[in-house]
Amino acid sequence: MLWISLVLFVAGSALAQVPFLGVCPNMEIMMNFEVEKYVGKWYEAERYFALFEFGGKCVTANYNLSENGSVQIMNKQISALTGVASSIEGIARLIGRSDDPKLTVTFPSLPLPVDAPYWILDTDYKSYAVVWSCTNFGVFSIRNAWILTREPRPPVAVLEKAYQVIDRNNISRAYFIRTDQKNCPATY
Ligand SMILES: *[C@@H]1O[C@H](CO)[C@@H](O)[C@H](O)[C@H]1NC(C)=O
Ligand SMILES: *[C@@H]1O[C@H](CO)[C@@H](O)[C@H](O)[C@H]1NC(C)=O
Ligand SMILES: *[C@@H]1O[C@H](CO)[C@@H](O)[C@H](O)[C@H]1NC(C)=O
Repeated sequence: MLWISLVLFVAGSALAQVPFLGVCPNMEIMMNFEVEKYVGKWYEAERYFALFEFGGKCVTANYNLSENGSVQIMNKQISALTGVASSIEGIARLIGRSDDPKLTVTFPSLPLPVDAPYWILDTDYKSYAVVWSCTNFGVFSIRNAWILTREPRPPVAVLEKAYQVIDRNNISRAYFIRTDQKNCPATY
């Protein structure tokens, strides 16, 4: 029952994600983060199984820096079932020092616009990023992770760099699923 209510809860969130028994584990996050280099377009290469995005292909994230220092988000995807394209706008804010890669993300148009953590565990800005999100709910924690890449179909060497970050942080690779980035419209 608890599991179901957690799933219903997170299904209202764009960061719908996997409930785990146990609190959020420690993560080793990068130093000297530069948000100006992180913005721009990213392709979702792999993700944790996430309800909201179920069946989503051609998933992209566009991040723009606004004048007040917040990051405007435009996520796009195409339903693998219906072929219908959809997008959602969000906003992210750095929660600590400007060189600390910890952000909080909100999607105001959702029925339940919760602030979700968005931590960039590591990125080289030009090929890959590994993003982690974890929130404690009592004895559970809701976890999500993404591998984002600058190219829609990155070479294996790029994914290997992301896997190293995942392994270094003891995140199980078993929950990752590949995002379909084939036959996507050019505008995506
Ligand atoms: C920052 O700017 C963006 C876009 O201009 C706006 O949506 C957001 O509400 C602003 N945030 C704050 C805290 O002023
Ligand atoms: C970011 O800026 C680009 C180009 O200026 C624009 O096409 C895109 O829609 C913007 N994205 C967001 C989330 O505002
Ligand atoms: C991952 O596990 C190893 C071995 O148990 C441990 O030494 C290391 O600190 C862990 N990494 C993190 C980021 O907690």
